[in-house]
Amino acid sequence: MEKAGNLKDEGYWVQDCSAATQNILLAAESLGLGAVWTAAYPYDDRMKVVIETLNLSDNHVPLNVIPIGYPTGEDQPKDKWKPERIIWEEAGKIE
Ligand SMILES: Cc1cc2nc3c(=O)[nH]c(=O)nc-3n(C[C@H](O)[C@H](O)[C@H](O)COP(=O)(O)O)c2cc1C
Repeated sequence: MEKAGNLKDEGYWVQDCSAATQNILLAAESLGLGAVWTAAYPYDDRMKVVIETLNLSDNHVPLNVIPIGYPTGEDQPKDKWKPERIIWEEAGKIE
């Protein structure tokens, strides 16, 4: 957390590490691998498992765990595109 500027509770570390996570996921995909974001932060019980398993020091807060493997090919990407969820001009009109 010292590299996050001591902004643990109000800083950008979540955004920073989320962007890094996305890049890792994309890199895995580009290599023909499968990877998935599984949350640790902000769940105390999950963070505790990661901290204890990896023997992390106090200044580490695990954001997530990214299992990486070889896809079987059975599961295909889902199309979750919902154009009605895109706000183009006036957010007040969206229910
Ligand atoms: C912030 C964040 C946290 C997530 N945490 C978990 C998680 O703890 N466990 C999990 O199975 N999926 C988690 N996911 C979802 C997976 O990364 C992935 O998007 C999802 O399993 C895809 O499911 P689908 O194939 O049904 O779309 C998380 C996603 C995000 C963006």
